[in-house]
Amino acid sequence: MADNQSLKGRTAIVTGGSSGIGRAIAIRLGEAGAHVFLAGRSESALNEGCKAVEKTGGRATPIAFDARDVKQVQGLVDKAVKATGRLDIMVNNAGLEFPSSIIEGDPERWREMLEVNVLALLVGSQAAIRAMRACGSAGHIVNISSVAGRREASGVYGATKWAVNSIATTLREELENDKIRVVNIMPGAVATNFARNFPPAFVKGIVSSLGIQADIQPGAQLPPAVLDQIAAAGKLFLASADDVARAVLFAVTQPIELNVFEMVVRPQRALQLPA
Ligand SMILES: NC(=O)c1ccc[n+]([C@@H]2O[C@H](COP(=O)([O-])OP(=O)(O)OC[C@H]3O[C@@H](n4cnc5c(N)ncnc54)[C@H](OP(=O)(O)O)[C@@H]3O)[C@@H](O)[C@H]2O)c1
Repeated sequence: MADNQSLKGRTAIVTGGSSGIGRAIAIRLGEAGAHVFLAGRSESALNEGCKAVEKTGGRATPIAFDARDVKQVQGLVDKAVKATGRLDIMVNNAGLEFPSSIIEGDPERWREMLEVNVLALLVGSQAAIRAMRACGSAGHIVNISSVAGRREASGVYGATKWAVNSIATTLREELENDKIRVVNIMPGAVATNFARNFPPAFVKGIVSSLGIQADIQPGAQLPPAVLDQIAAAGKLFLASADDVARAVLFAVTQPIELNVFEMVVRPQRALQLPA
């Protein structure tokens, strides 16, 4: 485990910091001493996330942004650099899935997945690398990919994560002569609000099989406390967001000459997800 203040004086951005894995990463990085910029769409959830970081003694700033807008992604990096004079860790975590077969799928949903999961990650990485080079930091670009990026026939969502994995490898090679490392983390099933766009009956089935009562509405989100309950009750087939966050903290606190490039963080058993 990294020492408690190993990221003191560092600046980190976490996209998708308003929920789930991003929120947990922000808490771990903040606790380790980084000033964390939590970026997402929901302002109230971002403020809650910042409070959770501050509770651990960390420093946090909320930034509302839309990952689908290239200028807003670049602006996010600019804001963090302007406020702190540096950037050390960029966590490209914002992402979403609309499960569907390709034959039945909606191209506008594909566009949203491609823009958030792939384009925003590319633009965010580029802007962050330029900022890290400009301030001379020993930096980390962290992608939250997925085991779907290893599985054949994993739908359009899986295709976005195959793209993330390929981008990570390319960037790792491009950065071999820099003081910037790339970390690509592939979680398996994690208890978060990621299933917000899944068929409600599927989510209800999992939650009620764990003996947990929760109101599951299409597109709606469950509070962090209920997700913690779900992660605890279903831990054989659902990792917790903090399981992924600890992996990120481990990777970004290694010596800069050491590249912890890829990690699969998954629960003991595989969960069958809708196609
Ligand atoms: N949970 C899993 O089982 C699992 C498994 C493998 C990989 N992952 C990956 O983990 C990452 C985080 O997902 P999660 O599980 O933490 O799900 P989550 O709780 O639904 O969080 C997704 C985050 O992405 C943000 N986001 C989505 N669209 C956005 C947009 N247009 N602009 C800005 N932010 C946007 C959301 O912001 P708002 O809430 O503010 O809208 C939210 O903070 C994703 O990349 C996902 O693919 C998840």
